[in-house]
Amino acid sequence: MFVLKRFQASRLERLNTVVSGVHRHLTQYINLVGSATLPLPEVCEAISLPGSAIRTEGHLGSRFFPGTKPIDDAELIAMEGVKRLFEIFDGYQVSVQPHSATQANHIVWNSLLDQGDKVLGLSLNDGGHLSHTLGLPKGITFLPFPMGDSGIAYSELKKMVIETKPKMLVAGATSYTLAIDYVRLASIAKITNSYLHADIAHTAPYVFSGQHPNVIPGADTITLDTGKNLRGPKGGVLVYRTNHEKKIKRSIFPLVQSSLNQSAIIAKACLFEYWDRTNIKDHAIELIRTSKYFAEYLKTYGVPLIFEGTDTHLILMDVGKLGLSGKEAEERLEKYNILSNRNTIPGDSRPAWIGSGLRIGTTVLTILGYSNEDLRVLARIISEILNLNTPPKNCIELLLKKYHSSVSVLV
Ligand SMILES: Cc1ncc(COP(=O)(O)O)c(C=O)c1O
Repeated sequence: MFVLKRFQASRLERLNTVVSGVHRHLTQYINLVGSATLPLPEVCEAISLPGSAIRTEGHLGSRFFPGTKPIDDAELIAMEGVKRLFEIFDGYQVSVQPHSATQANHIVWNSLLDQGDKVLGLSLNDGGHLSHTLGLPKGITFLPFPMGDSGIAYSELKKMVIETKPKMLVAGATSYTLAIDYVRLASIAKITNSYLHADIAHTAPYVFSGQHPNVIPGADTITLDTGKNLRGPKGGVLVYRTNHEKKIKRSIFPLVQSSLNQSAIIAKACLFEYWDRTNIKDHAIELIRTSKYFAEYLKTYGVPLIFEGTDTHLILMDVGKLGLSGKEAEERLEKYNILSNRNTIPGDSRPAWIGSGLRIGTTVLTILGYSNEDLRVLARIISEILNLNTPPKNCIELLLKKYHSSVSVLV
């Protein structure tokens, strides 16, 4: 059990329950929530610096307060790191200021969309994110991508784009488990001069390392999430074509924020110094390898999967076929200390709050170095639980002891 010394003053005593709760979360649960991660220890250390002491407002090079040099340096390091990972030399700019990926998406909507525009993207049931659909500004019409048995139906989409002439294609996913062909989407968008926005919140490591098709030079704007499988602090990053610079910068400041999250900027600098083109590739390959193994084992034990598998760390199970709703499946697994999340699936008749799918992400298993044999054991446990059998309790305890018990809140 961890006790942060400074919390011992009686005024702060209650917070020890928070610290011990975080500790319990890390050590006593197998966390398979789709976006779950473990931040790098280096990032945890960096974020503990008192960044909020250095009030910083405005864009790099045009700050509204003096004395911001440490944050200026951190912002520059982070921006250069993103450019290095994307191998961007010119034609694109980077902002590491957005506080979240959703906020980064909204900066794009505010900059490039106007009332009456049409946007094409993945529907919620097909794996799109809320901010691409329900989160669009008033007066924008969302039209869903046509889908087929093996994912986005690109040829149909091409016809649809020519017919509807959308202002923007939004390509990114929260529960679509296959690689998105950004190169093909860019060529489709070009036909009607539509913008292409790539939301790679879940897939940045794969895109950086060539495991998935590249978003550059096809996309106009690109959103990243530093707090998912990149293992950074909570936060967003926005990459945009230089010709959109004026609109995007104004949309960031003063439209959606005043000051930066200074601590997060320092941690983002640390994150993007940590990753280089070699170690991100190793990380991406390992993430995909773990997930593919796990998906195969789940199928072996009779768990039905959407698209029969995955190209990412995400796996979407059709638990409706097992007679469960997503919510029931999630709650059942939680009773056995396994965290996952309910999700809708293509053609779902249940509402999002209930869903017929269960989404899992294998990032934490990858980070903790689960062996193939233990992935098999875990898949079997999940199958037993979803099939309403009682799994051998000691198997879960053994996995927790072997991989999770030494994960530390303090670094
Ligand atoms: C594709 C996609 N975009 C954006 C987001 C939102 O990220 P944030 O929670 O940082 O706003 C998510 C969240 O999981 C996502 O899956």
